[in-house]
Amino acid sequence: MHSRLLKKRKFIKKIPIKSEWEVERMRIANRIVAEVLLVLKEVICAGMSTKDLDNIAREEIEKRGARPAFLGYHGYPASLCVSVNSEVVHGIPSSHRLLAEGDLVSLDLGSIYEDYYGDAAISVCVGKPSKRVQDLLEITEKSLYEGISKARAGNRVQDISFAIQNFVESRGYFVVKKFVGHGIGRNLHEPPEVPNYGKPGRGPLLKPGMCIAIEPMVNEGTSEVRVLADGWTAVTVDGSLSAHFEHTILITKGEAEILSKV
Ligand code: MF3
Ligand code: CO
Repeated sequence: MHSRLLKKRKFIKKIPIKSEWEVERMRIANRIVAEVLLVLKEVICAGMSTKDLDNIAREEIEKRGARPAFLGYHGYPASLCVSVNSEVVHGIPSSHRLLAEGDLVSLDLGSIYEDYYGDAAISVCVGKPSKRVQDLLEITEKSLYEGISKARAGNRVQDISFAIQNFVESRGYFVVKKFVGHGIGRNLHEPPEVPNYGKPGRGPLLKPGMCIAIEPMVNEGTSEVRVLADGWTAVTVDGSLSAHFEHTILITKGEAEILSKV
């Protein structure tokens, strides 16, 4: 199933346009992700392990009639990605990794509902955030909404990319270039790629019915990241903090519809 899915993905070159029937499923898959992320945000506290969060995420997804999308995806061993402080994305939950007061935690979650995918991420602080953490959280989340504001029919993908990069860099922070946002639908990753950097007016044309996941990853000190020996966890090369916010959206004739919201 895994390699078949992969092979199938290679044949998708064009950006799929979703029918209303498909969009209805995308809405459900993504609303479930948003709800579960909200639950995680409410329960997260010092002393919990990142594996505790993963267990809750899986239970809450299944309770809502969906399946975790990341579990087993390219061999990923969990339902949730939990990336702490200088970890950028794809942190693997562990029962040995206990959260502490002040930790900046990025939570990335995917679901499958009737063959359609949901994907979203939030970053939160455990307990009271320092000014440093608060600023990074705010800039990263705002950059996501800057990108979403450019996600409309008639614009091009890099209009989104540029808006994110421009906002982040104007505030003195750095966008990660090694990982990108993506189309999403019957696959977790579909065309187009949605980088968090680029030039206005470039890239594929956006059309009503396209679904894309926009996911800025913002670092304090550098764009550069490296992947740890576990093969998954990406960290900033300089040890500086990193945050990540992601929404799955639908391109419409007007403003984008955010699918991964409660
Ligand atoms: N939101 C991430 C992405 O689109 C989550 C993928 S994690 C994986 O790349 F484990 F599923 F790979
Ligand atoms: Co994604």
